[in-house]
Amino acid sequence: MNSLNQGKDKPAVKGGDAAIREAADLINAGGLVAFPTETVYGLGANALDGQAVARIFEAKQRPDFNPLIVHCADTEQAAELTEFTPYAQLLAEHLWPGPITFILKRKADCPVSELCSAGLPTLAVRVPQHKLARELLQRAGVPIAAPSANRSGRLSPTAPVHVLESLGNAVDMILAGGACEVGLESTVVDLTGEQPVLLRSGAIIAEQLEQILESEVLVETESTNDSAPKSPGQTLNHYAPSIPVRMNAVDLEPGEALLAFGSDKFMGIKGGGAAKDLPDSSRRNLSKESDLNEAAANLFRMLHELDCPEHKGIAVMPMPKMGIGIAINDRLKRASQSV
Ligand code: TXA
Ligand code: MG
Repeated sequence: MNSLNQGKDKPAVKGGDAAIREAADLINAGGLVAFPTETVYGLGANALDGQAVARIFEAKQRPDFNPLIVHCADTEQAAELTEFTPYAQLLAEHLWPGPITFILKRKADCPVSELCSAGLPTLAVRVPQHKLARELLQRAGVPIAAPSANRSGRLSPTAPVHVLESLGNAVDMILAGGACEVGLESTVVDLTGEQPVLLRSGAIIAEQLEQILESEVLVETESTNDSAPKSPGQTLNHYAPSIPVRMNAVDLEPGEALLAFGSDKFMGIKGGGAAKDLPDSSRRNLSKESDLNEAAANLFRMLHELDCPEHKGIAVMPMPKMGIGIAINDRLKRASQSV
């Protein structure tokens, strides 16, 4: 019999088939299981169990107005919970399982805890692609509510160690599956209105959705003050390390760590010195070959690694705003506004 962690011990970090069975049993017993997806690690609970979902909010210290993504084993399960529109069907055929979340109206008899919707008439659903996530969903047999497995407002975890550091003993178990392939949270698209609206950028970009749907997609990834945000998470200081982040840096302030992209050969330090002579602990390169996919996969890990009190801040070199670079710049902008 699995016992739920009563906040005393560090959670077990386990991989393999036996671990999936144990994780599924814990989910069914009302527990909290951190598990890997292709985007970031999620903090999962049985979406049908209000008490278990409440534990997610408590563990993350997440404001209760911020709704959760419900992960499903397949499109059929997602369509049982929501009013699945023709656009949703089309996008699901092309992009699920994968790193994209749909906002849809809840079905009148939707059994998912209302807490997941945070008072909204809608529900966010996603069918993830990661093998362990899919096996966990199948084995558990219930939809799994899972925000990113970090304390609210902090960097999303892309490896088990980040979950341990951020949530520690608030979690019952960590299902270990190595580093996340995409490294940035899923694209979020609102499909409740006539026109699809992109609410969060990710690996799948607006142009891809437009091609599939043969229709224009509105982009509302930045909340404006004059209108209520469609995605409550937009208003929060997200994705932040505990020290300041400075974007588009062309040189370094003394005491700053460097997060490079491409060659950092010519990066100087104000007052004298070169970035290339910094100690290894103060210097990371997202992608020496300027590959944006590699940069996305490395982003949160490297921000985690440079996030220490020895550094005055983290200076990040410019990155092109194309493809997944749009999402990278979005996360960096939020991080740079947060401290
Ligand atoms: O890649 C991901 O999406 C990861 C993995 C674990 O799946 N999850 C994740 O969840 O990033 P979270 O909770 O950190 O971010 C979910 C975002 C939040 O900005 C939230 O406000 C928004 O989705 N959201 C959730 N439900 C919504 C709804 N019904 N309407 C509008 N926005 C919603
Ligand atoms: Mg999050």
